[in-house]
Amino acid sequence: MLEQTLAIVKPDAVRKKFTGAILARYEKEGFRIRAVKMRHLSKAEAEGFYAVHRERPFFRSLVDFMVSGPVVLVVLEKEGAILAHRTLMGATDPAKAEKDTLRAHFGESIECNAVHGSDSAETARFEIPYFFPTVELVG
Ligand code: TYD
Repeated sequence: MLEQTLAIVKPDAVRKKFTGAILARYEKEGFRIRAVKMRHLSKAEAEGFYAVHRERPFFRSLVDFMVSGPVVLVVLEKEGAILAHRTLMGATDPAKAEKDTLRAHFGESIECNAVHGSDSAETARFEIPYFFPTVELVG
């Protein structure tokens, strides 16, 4: 099934100029980039986005990190895009991420782990319109 998923190039990866390499990898792996924009998230936006993690001990630090610099928000499309992108990202902790995954290549710690990806169809239905409320799907 043709699916869409939300990807975020996180502030650590943008700072280190990995944006181009990450977007190129998406295209190489057969994803279509359906929307892309660079934004510096507000604290409220980051808190709302990660609201499911509100009670977790890392929540404050995660929000501070996500607003520490610009991010690149991307809508990816492909057959089975959600799982395919999760596999391509690798484990949350880059030290445990499978070889040749985005987090293995570009992540530096469990918090500064380079990329975000929707983890289910339900999550994608929340996350895509959260950042692209009037997304124009081009082409
Ligand atoms: P989570 O949804 O568990 O991971 P994933 O991004 O792989 O879906 O957690 C969301 C983000 O929270 C994760 O990308 C980085 C951060 N985080 C921490 O900073 N410390 C932690 O111990 C965990 C589990 C996550």
